[in-house]
Amino acid sequence: MSKQFKRTTVTAALPYANGPVHIGHMAGVYVPADIYVRYLRLKGEPVVFICGSDEHGVPITVRARKEGCTPQDVVDRYHSIIKQAFKDAGISFDIYSRTTSEQHHKTASDFFRKLYEKGEFIEQTTEQYYDPEAKQFLADRYIVGECPRCHSQGAYGDQCEKCGSTLSPEELINPVSKLSGAKPEKRPTKHWYLPLDRHEGWLRKWILDDHKEWRSNVYGQCKSWLDLGLQPRAVSRDLDWGIPVPVEGAEGKVLYVWFDAPIGYISNTQEMCAANPEKYGSWEQWWKDPETRLVHFIGKDNIVFHCIVFPAMLKAEGSYILPDNVPANEFLNLEGDKISTSRNWAVWLHEYLADFPGKADTLRYVLTANAPETKDNDFTWKDFQARHNNELVAVFGNFINRAMVLTHKYFEGKVPQHGEPTDYDMATLNEFADVKSRLEGYLDTFRFREAQKEAMNLARIGNKYLADTEPWKLAKTDMKRVAAILNMSLQIAANLAIAFEPFLPFSAARLRKMLGMNDFKWEQLGQTALLPDGSELGKTELLFEKIEDDAIEAQIKRLADIKEQNRANEFKPAEIKAPTSIEEFDKMDIRVAKVLECQKVPKADKLLQFTLDDGTGTPRTILSGIAKSYPEPEKLVGMQVLFIANFPPRKLRGIESQGMILSAVDADGQLVLVQPSREVKNGVQVG
Ligand code: 2FM
Ligand code: ZN
Repeated sequence: MSKQFKRTTVTAALPYANGPVHIGHMAGVYVPADIYVRYLRLKGEPVVFICGSDEHGVPITVRARKEGCTPQDVVDRYHSIIKQAFKDAGISFDIYSRTTSEQHHKTASDFFRKLYEKGEFIEQTTEQYYDPEAKQFLADRYIVGECPRCHSQGAYGDQCEKCGSTLSPEELINPVSKLSGAKPEKRPTKHWYLPLDRHEGWLRKWILDDHKEWRSNVYGQCKSWLDLGLQPRAVSRDLDWGIPVPVEGAEGKVLYVWFDAPIGYISNTQEMCAANPEKYGSWEQWWKDPETRLVHFIGKDNIVFHCIVFPAMLKAEGSYILPDNVPANEFLNLEGDKISTSRNWAVWLHEYLADFPGKADTLRYVLTANAPETKDNDFTWKDFQARHNNELVAVFGNFINRAMVLTHKYFEGKVPQHGEPTDYDMATLNEFADVKSRLEGYLDTFRFREAQKEAMNLARIGNKYLADTEPWKLAKTDMKRVAAILNMSLQIAANLAIAFEPFLPFSAARLRKMLGMNDFKWEQLGQTALLPDGSELGKTELLFEKIEDDAIEAQIKRLADIKEQNRANEFKPAEIKAPTSIEEFDKMDIRVAKVLECQKVPKADKLLQFTLDDGTGTPRTILSGIAKSYPEPEKLVGMQVLFIANFPPRKLRGIESQGMILSAVDADGQLVLVQPSREVKNGVQVG
């Protein structure tokens, strides 16, 4: 017997605000969560739907550095894009806030402090990589070097993107700091750890014995983590972006993003309740009452955090409920390839909504029909078009259109008199009589694909009923029967308007308007007297319009162009130039100098002005077109560089440049200054 609950708190993974949301996120998390919440609301059950942007963490600082702006700029930009796109896609959050909010900083700090005071952390000092030039500890992503497995250059301290291996920074060959290019050194640093090993006992029982009903992918992943044995996990980082660790002696340290992000669910609930206490009551009831059911919708990469780490945090705190279910999905691929933000291999939600105005429901429909509930699935534009044209237009839309048009034609737009059902009518009625319990069976167990199929089946029943009874042929002979057929068709249409509300909220609302349904309840599903005889219908509108080939071809072309671009970006070394000679080479006077000053040249977005100590005693000025690659030029001061001393001087922007500084052009087009592998005397020659 499953437990009875009074209310439900539904959370959807907080998306990182370092890029827009794509269809993979939608299929995996936001569409299923929204279907579930709309279903509960329709049943009249108390529910809140909580989300917001996840605005801390290293990827945001990496992005900011790349774009030459602040992390706050990055999250501000993406937070608003994401929030608007969710709204336009009909994702009906009760709150969409952000982890840079004041409320969140306070709640997360308080949460940490409480665990700290209860002795729920262990403190440990370990040796971590430190950049002596940038004077900061380095996150794994900020250390690059040669991959120990495939020996490609530029592998990150946590992963090699060439061969896909998971790495630790210690494994990199010749690691260098991405910040300054310096060789990182190990330095001791203190951090706080959540000793998950202490929680292993109850976690095993809670998941493996008490939650056998969880999806097998979720249960299986948890089991393998638990079987491997849990280790203490650091909950702080040396970073200057995030929530400061709120204890003494923690300067320069912030909470690890995976510690603060799930607390975001709580702080966003607090913000929601404070803004509308009449509607939502106290936030505690949504998080602390054992009669509240907590459900986390996430993608499969988040399972360990939501099933093991966050529950351990909640348990350690002591006053919170634990999740009752965590319906995590597998991944959605795009046209056969893994969706990748860095390779721009994605359909971005906000772009889809702009390219297909008024078709948010189509995307919801296709993503649910293909939902990666049990295995990874593929999104293709051809399938998208086929599902829209053959199912939404040809079945659902066509049925509604015929029922509406015929009623307007023969009965002046009023629901005609119902009749005594024939045997054929009875057979049809029987087919959809238990639609409610079938839908509930699927929705209650998070099987949204099957649920939507069931709803669509209702449209097929209606379409077939009209096609079989052919009321247009009876109009001359038996208007009573025509009335009965159309009445029954309209009742099926009214059922569709309820059944599709969780899946296709925009279309369901338009359909209700056409049918003149003012109020409606889930309870009415399966009934055949939803529209009273004689009630007035609205105007007939097309529920779905066909998607033409050119719209689809444009999308396919866009992806082909991206593929081409990615191929071009894959670095191939240039052809070796024509042979030269030692004499030619000797003509070049390459020397080492130290950067004394470096600044941007006003009104020239590419130029940096270097003042160099070239050992002659007279500072040398050189202009170099590398400003885009070095957004913080003052950080170059003190570094040694190579330059060509006998290059003819030339004037740029009124400044005389006396030589040329050498830099390598990286595969991504970034210019990287070349420097000697150890400090040498300024002015020595290179040869
Ligand atoms: O994987 C992600 O996109 C994370 N930003 C999810 C965080 S979920 C929660 F814990 F906030
Ligand atoms: Zn590799």
